Amino acid sequence: MNAMSARLSREQARTHLGGVESALGNSTGRAAREAAVRYLNGSVPAYSWVGVYSVEGKDLVLDAWSGPAATEHTRIPLGKGVCGFAAKAGRTEIVSDVSKDPRYLSCFVSTKSEIVVPIHAGGKVVGEIDIDSDHKDAFSTLDREFLEAVAARLASLW
Ligand code: SME
Repeated sequence: MNAMSARLSREQARTHLGGVESALGNSTGRAAREAAVRYLNGSVPAYSWVGVYSVEGKDLVLDAWSGPAATEHTRIPLGKGVCGFAAKAGRTEIVSDVSKDPRYLSCFVSTKSEIVVPIHAGGKVVGEIDIDSDHKDAFSTLDREFLEAVAARLASLW
């Protein structure tokens, strides 16, 4: 699977939004975040590792994750790494080639690209969705729109 074929189509993004909604069921809070990361990792081929971090004071703390292995980055200071940068800036970050981004904190040798989508609730960033892909340049505007919709849904269930 090359980068282009790994990328979401608009049709797939729409289908996956429905898939996330079904996976959420009636869950709320952490259970909802667990259901969402499990769905995203299990159903979107390019999403090799999926996590949700929550903001606790000046740190991001890993709250729910799904993937082949655990990350050592279970606590990341705001402002550090791509994760900390996106949370502090309050906007989505797409890194098409992690080897070229000096902010990148390495977790898995297989990771080639990454997207981090902040979760806004009550006028502040309460957490974020962090996704690693084993494919270079795996994330497009469609992933951003799709994952921002998922983030809004998780915010409503926070
Ligand atoms: N790569 C992230 C750290 C988290 S791991 O990808 C799970 C970063 O640069 O902030």
